[in-house]
Amino acid sequence: MKKLFLVALMALMGLQLDAQNVTVSKGLLKQGDDLNWAKPEMDDTSWSEVDITKRWDEQGFPQNTKAYGWYRIHVTIPKSVFQGADQQNALILNMPKADDVDECYLNGKLIGSTGRMPTNAAGYFPASNDVRNYVVNIKEDCVRLDAENVIAVRVYNRGGSGGLYNNPLTITCPKAAEGLSMRLSDTNVGQYHYDIEVNNAYSTATNGTLDVTIIDRETGAKVKSLSKKLSLKRNKPVRVTVPYNMDKMCQLTATYTDAKTGKVLSESKQLKYVLTPAAPATPRFNGAPVFGVRPGSPVIYRFPVSGEKPMKFTCNDLPAGLQLTESGVLSGKIGKPAVLTFTVVAENAKGKASQEFTLKVGADMIGQTPPMGWNSWNCWGLTVTQEKVMASTQALIDKGLAEYGYSYINIDDGWEAPERNPDGTLDANQKFPSMKGLVDWLHERGLKFGIYSAPGATTCGGYLGSLGYEKEDAEVWNKWGVDYLKYDWCSYENVRAQENDYGFASCIRPYLLMQKFLRQQPRDIFYSLGPLGGTQVYLWGLYCDGNSWRTAQDINDTWHSIYDVGFRQQLGKSQYSSIGHWNDPDMLVVGKVGYGLGENTKGLRETRLTPDEQYTHITLWTLVSSNMLIGCDIAQMDDFTLNLLCNNEVNAIDQDLLGKQADRALKEGDIEVWSRPLADGAIAVGIFNVGETDRQVDMKKLIPSEKPAKNVRDLWRQKDLSESELNCTIPLHGCRYLKVWF
Ligand code: GLA
Repeated sequence: MKKLFLVALMALMGLQLDAQNVTVSKGLLKQGDDLNWAKPEMDDTSWSEVDITKRWDEQGFPQNTKAYGWYRIHVTIPKSVFQGADQQNALILNMPKADDVDECYLNGKLIGSTGRMPTNAAGYFPASNDVRNYVVNIKEDCVRLDAENVIAVRVYNRGGSGGLYNNPLTITCPKAAEGLSMRLSDTNVGQYHYDIEVNNAYSTATNGTLDVTIIDRETGAKVKSLSKKLSLKRNKPVRVTVPYNMDKMCQLTATYTDAKTGKVLSESKQLKYVLTPAAPATPRFNGAPVFGVRPGSPVIYRFPVSGEKPMKFTCNDLPAGLQLTESGVLSGKIGKPAVLTFTVVAENAKGKASQEFTLKVGADMIGQTPPMGWNSWNCWGLTVTQEKVMASTQALIDKGLAEYGYSYINIDDGWEAPERNPDGTLDANQKFPSMKGLVDWLHERGLKFGIYSAPGATTCGGYLGSLGYEKEDAEVWNKWGVDYLKYDWCSYENVRAQENDYGFASCIRPYLLMQKFLRQQPRDIFYSLGPLGGTQVYLWGLYCDGNSWRTAQDINDTWHSIYDVGFRQQLGKSQYSSIGHWNDPDMLVVGKVGYGLGENTKGLRETRLTPDEQYTHITLWTLVSSNMLIGCDIAQMDDFTLNLLCNNEVNAIDQDLLGKQADRALKEGDIEVWSRPLADGAIAVGIFNVGETDRQVDMKKLIPSEKPAKNVRDLWRQKDLSESELNCTIPLHGCRYLKVWF
């Protein structure tokens, strides 16, 4: 009778009991924040009863931006949750999701948290969509079996809807199979290999078999297979290392079959593969044979030449006013407009190479080819420091990227001091002990320096912008030696709102103002315009003297973003791009990125793009004459990424002297063909499979020309293709990159 009554009462409270689970959908809520509310004994009788599967604003509570709220869930955890369980030591509390972050206390003890509260030293980090499974060891004092427990959840909501939502709280006892997990991680130091780690999180020991196969994706042949018996003690992960070579396009599949429970864990990964052939040991010029400068501005140019070191540069017909160091750094000034052509020779122990080079001196000559270099945003976000910038720059030199023309080192948002000086100038913050020192160091090496600001009062990252101080900022940047400005939009929207002026002129005005002061400086500053809301910068970027302008919103390292920013948003834009005035679909997302938000100690993770998607990314970006700004930490760059970025024939398309951006020539279902004419009369063609299955194609039929092709070259493989090789399979999200002569 008593038991029946208890069950009826629990049902009324939204609490159900079955053999092994406890499920609760109701709790008490109070908005506000007080850590004492975690204590089980505190009096919560005045709190409001709510449904924990629905956000607080759906239940009459205000949305409240930057607000805290606490939930208290009273629940009896019966010993019967352990009936028939494989192990008796742990309970899993599967909590509702929290919008945005939470901390969960069981009878006053913190048992788990997801995301980071704003008070966390590492900074706020949202985790609204994460599943919250908190595991408690029942030997902990805080677990009360067959008695009432108070689960208190502190929730922080950054804005919009907030509170607990999605699912009820369930308390279960883990089954042995649920404690099994498998993790695959790609390790790219030395010999490439996958580490496959199988773990058993629970106390019952188990055993099973791990089967691994590597299949050649082109031929279907089995390249490797292995089978290992694993014995898994509690929380002693067993690691199996599987080395692989990057010379083939392969797929690795790992399957663990547990002998005790029959549970099967399986995962499959595309292996990284290198298509770019090794560069010769003899010197090879890899850059476009042209550079533009305004009359009287300092020339800063480093000849991008690969080959064995040491290498020596000479020039017998160097025009007066210019100097060339033995290590290939060109400097000097030319006072008047001119087109100067001279021959530079690079020599090493293995041989000699030369390039006829043109320096174009004129008022509108900068940005002859899209800028190539590095930007701090996609890796470090607002956590950028001078040390991190130096590390990537040193690696850009040491790993040979400078030999392929990567020469701009650009600091994005996050360098600005919190306040302006009394004279209105803005210093760098303490993360940059010496901006001038950093820039001098770059210039000595023939590298160029970029900075970031915005026309509004604040930047997109909330730092100080240039509004009202455009002249002061341009002058300080000149003193530092800035060569590139990324001028973002963001809070300028507030100025337009205040003035209630949303016309065409209101877009151009702030950009023109900064342009005026940049032009007054005795040096060239490449002017890169940021994206802005729904307005189309590409329509008017030219009128602001922009050297490039963003043609899409911010990129991220997912296929969805590459597809949207690349294939959708660059479509039809070729007409807006010309020499010195380039469309910019945003920075590259290959290598280790993270935007300064990552949870791990170094804040970076491997790009989420598959190797095929990374080939597609670089192919499309070079086709559309994009600024080629590397977005990863170069110090941590692996050989795969290096090969992706240092294919001289691929980069030559981006840097082609005709300067004609590609556009889509053909779409047949999921196959898209993008092509552009080149200065030597050939065309570049990218054939992409944007669908979700591999596709067989006859590339001959897809080359967008009436004329029959005389020669078809595969740019990634740097190899001329035979007729039969034009029939091929393009994997999902993959591509082929061709140069075709007629
Ligand atoms: C905007 C830009 C990004 C980056 C950030 C910095 O979002 O589009 O590329 O510069 O601002 O806050």
